[in-house]
Amino acid sequence: MSDIMLLAVFPYLAVMTALGVGIYRYLNDRFSYSSLSSQFLEARALFWGSVSWHYAILLILSAHILALLFPSKWAALVGEPVRRYVLEISGLGLAIVAVGALIILIARRLTNRRVFMLTSKMDWLLLLVLLLQVLLGFYLALVYRWGSVWYLHTAVPWIASLFWLKPQIEFVSHLPLLVKLHFAGAFLLVFLFPFSRLVHFVTVPLGYLWRPYQLVIWNRHPLNRKEMLR
Ligand code: HEM
Repeated sequence: MSDIMLLAVFPYLAVMTALGVGIYRYLNDRFSYSSLSSQFLEARALFWGSVSWHYAILLILSAHILALLFPSKWAALVGEPVRRYVLEISGLGLAIVAVGALIILIARRLTNRRVFMLTSKMDWLLLLVLLLQVLLGFYLALVYRWGSVWYLHTAVPWIASLFWLKPQIEFVSHLPLLVKLHFAGAFLLVFLFPFSRLVHFVTVPLGYLWRPYQLVIWNRHPLNRKEMLR
């Protein structure tokens, strides 16, 4: 029963909440779609924490997503022992960077009085859930070896079954509790998404990659322009 709640009901609840509240917040409070930078209060620790966190977690999540989207190509990739070793060790290394970066970001908010004052309860909750999620990921990569392989026969068909609205938790319900908590933790983050600064995720300025470059042109009469330059 608890498995059904955790692995079949909660994922849908989380996605529906993220979509519903996310769209509502976007339509009613568009300017809150931001991470509310605190860089002007403290920049040094923010640089080291934030840059390393984003590089590490984006690489880790890219591996999670690539294996999910292209399971047969992923299986071929990890089928060769050297490549499997390299991937697993890189994953562990990146997990250590992600945990270290989060600790820097948390310590920064705790030790800098001005940043502390601007940290909401939701910020603390989000940081805590992220820390637990990466710690659990690190733990399972370390203890339940070759996750890059068993992920393909457990998490991938489970997530696919959720996507097709035919949840089949038997792919994952036999796994150890901490593994299931890592899986459900992903949906807890989805659930928190519309209530937290995680919303900045959808504001990544990807449009800059293909928009035409900016042209700055004078919009004044040439004579007035000379006046201005004088
Ligand atoms: C339903 C979604 C998810 C599933 C099924 C999943 C599954 C896994 C598995 C099987 C591993 C072990 C990989 C290995 O042994 O090499 C792992 C590792 C890890 N996961 Fe997840 N994960 C999910 C979501 C997330 C999310 C949302 C985060 C972070 C925000 C995360 C962070 C990590 C980290 C830091 C590691 C350790 C590094 C690595 O080995 O890749 N995971 N995850």
